[in-house]
Amino acid sequence: SRIYGLMGAMDEEIELLLSAMTDVSTSIKAGITYTTGNIHGHQVVVCKSGVGKVNAAVTTQILIDRFGVEQIIFTGVAGAVQPDLNIGDMVISSTCMQHDMDVTPLGFAKGIIPYQETSEFAADPGLVRLAEQACQSLGDRYIVGKVLSGDQFVASRELVTALHQEMGGACTEMEGAAVAQTAHMNGVPFVVLRSMSDKADGSAHVNFAEFAVKASHRSHRIVEYMLGHL
Ligand code: ADE
Repeated sequence: SRIYGLMGAMDEEIELLLSAMTDVSTSIKAGITYTTGNIHGHQVVVCKSGVGKVNAAVTTQILIDRFGVEQIIFTGVAGAVQPDLNIGDMVISSTCMQHDMDVTPLGFAKGIIPYQETSEFAADPGLVRLAEQACQSLGDRYIVGKVLSGDQFVASRELVTALHQEMGGACTEMEGAAVAQTAHMNGVPFVVLRSMSDKADGSAHVNFAEFAVKASHRSHRIVEYMLGHL
């Protein structure tokens, strides 16, 4: 059967996954702890990537090279960018793109990585469908939309508006597009699941502190459901 890579951004999520695992063993590579074991009869490798695109990219490549993962599910929290999204709602990635990739002085649109075929990386349709089923059966409000990633915590109305209007983003976070690009480069299917902890505006730091733990529990439940129905 397939080996699944389960990546989280926060300790709370990783702890919940670890407590559901059997036949556990751990190893450390490039400073990141990888825990292998079983959940619902599936072989999984669980890790916390750390924050930001470099951490996410390196961790994803190690999951693929050293642990042979064949599908990747990343879960965490994000700032809502689409106006009708509320704190607590889920975004399931249709695609992921880097909002801080900016070569506009050379005539490339915002987010475009110059001289390569793809800058917007599509999630696996089967994993997206399963995540939708999970949200429906758990009663979570969700949309399937574009996840924008950048090495910055967004806390500005102006930037949120630009991310939505100019780049069509549904939410913003700091890892998804790096996981997506690395997975794409290796031909590995992925999906990013994000629970909204804030609205990426002037209140984002307060909302994040209040809702991040609750939100990470919500996205963890969805991964549990997905593993139970794969
Ligand atoms: N993760 C959760 N909220 C975020 C925000 N506002 N910006 C970037 N990453 C986030």
